[in-house]
Amino acid sequence: MDNKFYITTPLYYVNASPHIGHSYTTIAADCLARYMRKVLGEKNVWLLTGTDEHGQKIQRAAQDAGLNPQDFSDKMVLKFKQLWKDLNISYNDFIRTTEKRHIDIVKRVLEILYQKGDIYQAQYKGWYCTPCETFWTETQTQDQNCPDCKRPLEHITETNYFFKLSKYQNWLIDYINNNPHFIRPEIRRREVLSFLELNELTDLCISRPKERLSWGIPLPFSKNHVNYVWFDALVNYISAVGEFDSKGEYKSKWWPADVHLIGKDILRQHAIYWPIILKALNIESPKTIFAHGWWLIGESKMSKSRGNVVSPVEMVNKFGIDVYRYFLLRDVPFGLDGTFSEEAIIKRFNSDLANDLGNLVYRTLTMIEKYFQGIIPDKGKLDQQGHKIEDEINSLGAHIAANLEGFIGYNFSASLECIWELINMANKYIEDTKPWNLAKENKTEELRSFIRLLVDVIREVADQIYPFMPQTAESIKDQLGKDKIKKGKPLFPRI
Ligand code: ME8
Ligand code: MG
Repeated sequence: MDNKFYITTPLYYVNASPHIGHSYTTIAADCLARYMRKVLGEKNVWLLTGTDEHGQKIQRAAQDAGLNPQDFSDKMVLKFKQLWKDLNISYNDFIRTTEKRHIDIVKRVLEILYQKGDIYQAQYKGWYCTPCETFWTETQTQDQNCPDCKRPLEHITETNYFFKLSKYQNWLIDYINNNPHFIRPEIRRREVLSFLELNELTDLCISRPKERLSWGIPLPFSKNHVNYVWFDALVNYISAVGEFDSKGEYKSKWWPADVHLIGKDILRQHAIYWPIILKALNIESPKTIFAHGWWLIGESKMSKSRGNVVSPVEMVNKFGIDVYRYFLLRDVPFGLDGTFSEEAIIKRFNSDLANDLGNLVYRTLTMIEKYFQGIIPDKGKLDQQGHKIEDEINSLGAHIAANLEGFIGYNFSASLECIWELINMANKYIEDTKPWNLAKENKTEELRSFIRLLVDVIREVADQIYPFMPQTAESIKDQLGKDKIKKGKPLFPRI
């Protein structure tokens, strides 16, 4: 299908409750999905999210909670689903890695790759980071601490199964070179490329002995092993939307994904393991992998393991869904890191939402009430400033498209800036025109066309902010009504 858009979020681990970082990726994905549904039609967009439920992390968290991993996951998944509801996330499908539909496909994938010889058995001797579930070679670790998380490594010797990453290294380098939009933003593309050019890939250990870890998908070709959680989890992007036929060919209405949205913490798995797994299966790569930056608390990444997380539920209760969505998408250009603080939200709230948008709507509705008995006036002749604003109304859609769509897109903050440019033009127009004087001087025609233009601005703004702030868009449209306004309370009373 050509005119379709398939977008995914990471599958979040269920070992702890979701925090602001998780909500960020999901809100961005929701915004893009809502936007693309306007462009392509409801039926042509598919937003997939879900949860990653196997592996050491989850087994351990379940143990700590005194539950078996399945019951623990069943309980934790509800927190994610509730949060997505609270944040107005319009996902089309939610996949859990413990679902049969997923497990069946992972097993099929393993079988195909084993038959093909791309998965083989070998003895593993080396260093292992249990919290990260990552193997490290002697050369990668000088001090016997994990190069990623700095925690102590364990030395292990065991029989395992390996996936031939190395066989496809040159293919991947060529692929990335030939597809400049495959990894985005550019800084991440260069990071992956230089990693591949400077390091020889070692084959990926895709099994865990059951005696060490039992909570995983059993390998079809070994009763003593389960599948490595990352191999399992990545397959969700295809298991949720397609199937293998009897010849081992993958069939899907949605694949290839248009974009996997992820954080930069999981770039290596997505930009190296995943395209190679797909290549070995003879499946196309996703069109784009976009790795955004991190929300920081002070200087450090917000993360469960650092214990510095902020609850999205708390922020939503304090500020409202749309204020929270707006802040995340507006405050930091997508791809860069940002510092999270309530003060920053309040600042955005008071200036952009209360002052700019809220005031424009409130003032306009008040004038319609006062001067036209609540009836929206007809279009009329415009002055020069009015014409400029009209041009801006007409071109706003194209400006946003240029910032959001296509390979270069994903610029949520710039899109919002374009919308605010129009809002600010309209506010300035009110100050320059001084409508109260027009009223005093009985210049009804001027007043009429002036106010009608403001209404057109607000309608366009409501249309365009819908993907970012769906409730606010609805509420503005409600207040404007069709011909007669229904003025409500101010949208964003100052904090
Ligand atoms: O990695 N800032 O799950 P996870 C911005 N299960 N985004 C953040 C963030 C932060 N401080 N912290 C987390 C996993 N995120 C795997 C993924 S995919 C097949 C398997 C977001 O629960 C960001 O999207 O650790 C990051 O990549 C993801 O949550 C990691 O979630
Ligand atoms: Mg993580």
